[in-house]
Amino acid sequence: MLESRLAVLVLAAGQGTRMRSSKPKVMHELAGIPLLGHALHTANALSAGNVVTVVRHEKDLIGEYVNAYFPTTKIAEQDEIPGTGRAVECGLSALPADFEGVVVVTSGDVPLLDVPTIEALLETHLAQGLSATLLTTFLEDPTGYGRILRSNDGEFIEIVEQRDASEGQLEIDEVNAGVYVFDAAALRAALAKLGTHNAQGEKYLTDAAAEILRAGGGVQAIAIEDSWLVAGINDRVQLSEVAAELNWRICESWQRAGVTILDPASTFIDVTVQLAEDVTLLPGTHLKGISSIAAGATVGPEVWLVDTAVGQRASVIKSHVTGSRIGDDATVGPFAYLRPGTDLGADGKIGTFVETKNAVIGAGSKVPHLSYVGDAEIGADSNIGAGTIFANYDGVNKHRSVIGRGVRSGSHNVFVAPIRIGDGAYTAAGTVVRKDVDPGALAMNVAPQRNLGGWVQQNRAGTAAAEAADAAEQASTETTEQN
Ligand code: UD1
Ligand code: CA
Repeated sequence: MLESRLAVLVLAAGQGTRMRSSKPKVMHELAGIPLLGHALHTANALSAGNVVTVVRHEKDLIGEYVNAYFPTTKIAEQDEIPGTGRAVECGLSALPADFEGVVVVTSGDVPLLDVPTIEALLETHLAQGLSATLLTTFLEDPTGYGRILRSNDGEFIEIVEQRDASEGQLEIDEVNAGVYVFDAAALRAALAKLGTHNAQGEKYLTDAAAEILRAGGGVQAIAIEDSWLVAGINDRVQLSEVAAELNWRICESWQRAGVTILDPASTFIDVTVQLAEDVTLLPGTHLKGISSIAAGATVGPEVWLVDTAVGQRASVIKSHVTGSRIGDDATVGPFAYLRPGTDLGADGKIGTFVETKNAVIGAGSKVPHLSYVGDAEIGADSNIGAGTIFANYDGVNKHRSVIGRGVRSGSHNVFVAPIRIGDGAYTAAGTVVRKDVDPGALAMNVAPQRNLGGWVQQNRAGTAAAEAADAAEQASTETTEQN
C-alpha cells in the first residue's frame, strides 16, 4: 500500500503507575533500550508516511529520546482527558488534516511486537475491506488485560476491560493485545462518540471497536499463537519476565548465526550488540550498548562489556570493560577494569588487577599485573612492570604520560605525569620516574640499599624472625667450620 496512506500511532502518554517509578514506564529499559525504543523500531520499519508517538507524562524526557533516536517520528501531546481512546484522538490530530487511509495503533509498553505480525494484520484488514482489525492472544493468566467477547459463532462483539468485566467475563482467556489496524475515517467517527463511562473514567480505545461495529463497519479480532509478541509491561515483574524471554530469543538468534553460548540463562545481550561467527560467550557475560565482538574471540566467564569493540581471536576473562577497544589477538583479565578511552593494540595484554583509562596501548605491549594506567600512550612492544602506577593527577589537573616503543619498565614504578619515556628505555625496579628518559637510557632513582647486620637479633630478640636468623647464622658457621 502507498506510504502516504499508512500512519502508525504509538501510545506512550500514560504514567505507568504500576511500575512505581519516578521514570515513565516506556523509558524503562529492556535489552539495552527503552520499551518505547522497541515499539518505535517496529513502527518505523513499517514504511508508513507518518509515525506519531503520543506523550503526556514526562513529555520532555520522552520527546528528547524520540527526537534523538527517531528523528522522523512526530510527537503529539495528549490533553487532560485520560485513556487510550483519547490518546489516539490526539495522535490523529498530528496527521495531515486530509489524511485518509489506514491507521495502525500500537503501545509503547508492548516491546516484542514485530513487523511481520503487523504486516499480517494489515494484509487481512485490506484483503477483507475491514474497518477495524485487532490482534488478540490466549493467555493462561489473562489478569489485567481486556477480554475479547465473541458471539456463539465466533464473531467479535466487544472488548471488556478487566476492571469493568463481570465474573463470567473474567474467565475468558482471549485478551486484547492492544495492537490495531483501523480505517482512519471509521476510527475518527467512533472516537467522537465515545464517553468515559467506565470504572477508570477514561476514554477507552477498546470501545472504538464495538462502536465501529455498531456503525456498520467490519471488525475482526485475530488471535496470534506466540503470546510473547504481544506481552504488555505494566509492572516490574512483567518487565523481568519479558526481559528473560527476549534474552532467550536474542541468544538463540546469535547461536543460529554461529555464536557459541554456553549458558544462555546467564548470558545477557543487548539488542544493540553485534557478534561475528565463531565468537564464544562463556557464562556470566553481559554485553551492553554499542558493543561488537569479532570472529573467533572468547568473552567470559563473568565479563561486563559496555560500548566496547573486541577484535578477532581476542580473549576477555572476568573483567569490567567500558568504552574501550580491544585489538585482534589481545588478552584482557582476569580481574581487569578497562575504563573509557582504553585502546589495546593487537596482541596486547591487560592482565590481572589492572585498571586503565584514556590509555592507548600499542600493538604487542603488555601491562600484565597490578597496575593503573591513566591518560597514557604506550608504544608498541613495551612491557610495563608489575605494580606500576601512572600518577596522572596532581590534585588539580590530569596530565599525560607518553611511553615509547620497546620500553621495559621495572616493577613498582611510578610515572609522574607529564612524562616522556624514549623508545627502548629501561627503568629500574622501584623507580619514581619524574624526569623524561632518553631513548635507550636506564632510569633509576632508588637510594642505595644498606643492610644492618644483626639488627633483628638485637632489636627483636625472642621473635620467630630472630630465632630463624640465629639458626641461619649457626648453620652457616657450621658449614664454614666443616670446610
Ligand atoms: C490496554 C487495553 C487492554 C489491553 C492491554 C494490552 C485499553 C483501555 N485497554 O490496557 O484492553 O489488553 O492494553 O496491553 O486500551 N496510554 C496513553 N494515554 C492514556 C493511557 C494510556 O497514551 O491516557 C498509553 C500507555 O502509555 C501505554 C498504552 O497506552 O503505552 C496502554 O496503556 P495501559 O494503561 O498500559 O493500558 P492497559 O491497562 O495495559
Ligand atoms: Ca499496558
